[in-house]
Amino acid sequence: MKHLLVFAALLGLVFCAGSAFAQDAAKGKLIYDTICVVCHGPDPKVDGPLGPAISGSSEELLRLRVLLNKYPDGYTPKRDTKMMPPFPQYKDDIGHIHAFLNQ
Ligand code: HEC
Repeated sequence: MKHLLVFAALLGLVFCAGSAFAQDAAKGKLIYDTICVVCHGPDPKVDGPLGPAISGSSEELLRLRVLLNKYPDGYTPKRDTKMMPPFPQYKDDIGHIHAFLNQ
């Protein structure tokens, strides 16, 4: 009986974690579809009209590129047009954007 309870509790945890992730990705998609889509195009796996494909970007790359207009040390940018402005207003949303781009 005790084991059953522990099992049920674990199952609950797994479900909570799962739905939290889904929410993150949904929020990230909303931001992508509002802002990033303009330059990166509707599908992040494909190059957009101005920006390159960014599907699979690491959280570090997103944080530096989106918030500070920088790149991780030693990273070679996919493009060098310097047309993307920083978006510091998304400082609390990098995790959501990362979840969407890596789902
Ligand atoms: C005004 C157009 C524009 C918007 C809006 C924009 N980007 Fe970009 N993005 C670019 C361009 C152009 C590049 C290529 C680097 C450069 O030339 O600035 C780029 C590069 C990137 C890169 C680096 C790709 C690599 O691996 O070299 C990431 C990550 C990125 N953008 C994420 C985003 C996210 C996330 C958003 C939405 C919050 C966004 N961008 C909105 C134009 C844009």
